[in-house]
Amino acid sequence: MSCHSHNKVLPLKKFISLLTPVVNALVNNTNSTYVNRHQKNQQKCIITRQEKMTLKTEKRDFDKAAGSWDEMPLRVKLAEDVANTIVSKVAISQDMTALDFGCGTGLLTLQLQPLVKSITGVDSSQGMLDIFNAKIATANINNADTLFLDIDKGGILTGQYNLIVSGMTLHHIKEIAPLLAQFYTVLAPGGTLCLADLDLDDGQFHDDSTGVFHNGFDRASLHRSFTDAGFVGVQDVTAAKIEKQGSDGQTRKFSVFLITGRKE
Ligand SMILES: C[S@@+](CC[C@H](N)C(=O)[O-])C[C@H]1O[C@@H](n2cnc3c(N)ncnc32)[C@H](O)[C@@H]1O
Repeated sequence: MSCHSHNKVLPLKKFISLLTPVVNALVNNTNSTYVNRHQKNQQKCIITRQEKMTLKTEKRDFDKAAGSWDEMPLRVKLAEDVANTIVSKVAISQDMTALDFGCGTGLLTLQLQPLVKSITGVDSSQGMLDIFNAKIATANINNADTLFLDIDKGGILTGQYNLIVSGMTLHHIKEIAPLLAQFYTVLAPGGTLCLADLDLDDGQFHDDSTGVFHNGFDRASLHRSFTDAGFVGVQDVTAAKIEKQGSDGQTRKFSVFLITGRKE
């Protein structure tokens, strides 16, 4: 009997001992499959988040846009409107040295160039500056020059200017406070800073948000930033109104402010 049961027990034990690694392997395999899938999903989430972050923080390729930049009438008109507003707010004279930060192809710079002693266009896109330099050469302009400088990559402005202007560039700059500090440093006493940019636009102005670090600006908070940087007599005015069709085909209205401040 015992022999019989012994005979029966042994194959069962053997069977279990044979089965155990198989079961373990199956369980482990299922676990590892689950873990792999879980990890893969997590990785996918991380990559998606990183891609989104890259898109949000990536610099826009202005070199690519340079060749056709002036072809958009909206940009030409906007530069004219901003220039006219600057002229209405600041007593510009022929003895002034001026700087246009984020000058691009010089649309705003060339509006002010005939009114000042000299004007320097600063930009981080060589493609934009090439177009601007060609305009300077073609028109034989001798009081305008350009300077390649990327403020977000540690570029430092030098020199002394009586007037600093900038049109539609501020929203492409990551950190506004250090830029205002640099403007203050290179502004001569009595000089004026004039910045034109979008009022808060809820991200609707740009079809592609690459390199857009601010969805427009709240004028009141920009006022405070001006004051914090040391500027006095800070004022803002609406410089332009724009109607623009988005990529969804819908036409929306936007406004552009000009904020000015003086260095005492
Ligand atoms: C929207 S465009 C405006 C160009 C011009 N002011 C106009 O009204 O046509 C912005 C310009 O700012 C320049 N820019 C962007 N980031 C910059 C940076 N970190 N330092 C200097 N210039 C920058 C771009 O290369 C581009 O030419």
